[in-house]
Amino acid sequence: MKIFYTKAALNAYLDAQKKNKQIGFVPTMGALHEGHLSLLKKCKEENDISIVSIFVNPTQFDNSADLVKYPKTFQEDTKLLESAQCDVLFAPDVKEIYAENITATSFDFDGLEQEMEGRFRTGHFDGVGTVVKRLFEIVAPNKAYFGEKDFQQLQIVKKMTKKQQLPVKVKGCKIYRAKNGLAMSSRNSRLTEAHLEAAPFIFKILQKAKIEFRTKTPNAIIKWVEKEFEKQPLLNLEYFTIADEKTLKNIKKKDEKTQYRAFIAVFAGEIRLIDNIQI
Ligand code: PAF
Repeated sequence: MKIFYTKAALNAYLDAQKKNKQIGFVPTMGALHEGHLSLLKKCKEENDISIVSIFVNPTQFDNSADLVKYPKTFQEDTKLLESAQCDVLFAPDVKEIYAENITATSFDFDGLEQEMEGRFRTGHFDGVGTVVKRLFEIVAPNKAYFGEKDFQQLQIVKKMTKKQQLPVKVKGCKIYRAKNGLAMSSRNSRLTEAHLEAAPFIFKILQKAKIEFRTKTPNAIIKWVEKEFEKQPLLNLEYFTIADEKTLKNIKKKDEKTQYRAFIAVFAGEIRLIDNIQI
């Protein structure tokens, strides 16, 4: 695996490749786990050159303590990528991406940014849009792979790519779960043992909500979920909502033609976990 730390070195390598090679890209913030590796696997199947980036993007953290504590495991990440036969790792520093101006551009994602995570994490999606656009411009991939765990992020990246007319096909990949159902996340490594034991409840409730959705009203399900979390001393529900998959707007009345998803954000101690399920 080649490792590049600068745009110039990455571009020199890519320029030396034969033309018409399909480039697949998996942007990450490191602390890699099986979820990331499943994105890389898909990327390898569909492209000639697979590039993974590791860059902990400062402009998408609404909480500076979260940025400082974000797990950084570069040596382990490199080993994992080597063994998964990644072709290229791009690991720029903050200066390489932002020069002296560490700020996010303000985007209009047609209202997608105002729902769910957008309500609780001010400026987060502008930070994501800024860094993904910059990385797409540097790497110039044909296809890029994002996990559905961050479903709102995936929709926003698709919207940004379309509105900015970037020639990249953005592909969503299924959530990778531990055997107990917990969605893989770099933040899981910061959970205490007790919280790690409690956290699979999040997916269990989503699965139950999916069944309840057949017969109950959205409001009744939301109330029921809130009650269930009151019985969980280690988990604090931030939000549970059912929304239209495309617009991410809260469901008002069930409509047979619309595809819905249930979305959830939960604090396990100080660690914020999100998950979702198609219902
Ligand atoms: O999902 C992530 O890890 C990050 O939000 C991303 C897409 C790499 C942008 O920093």
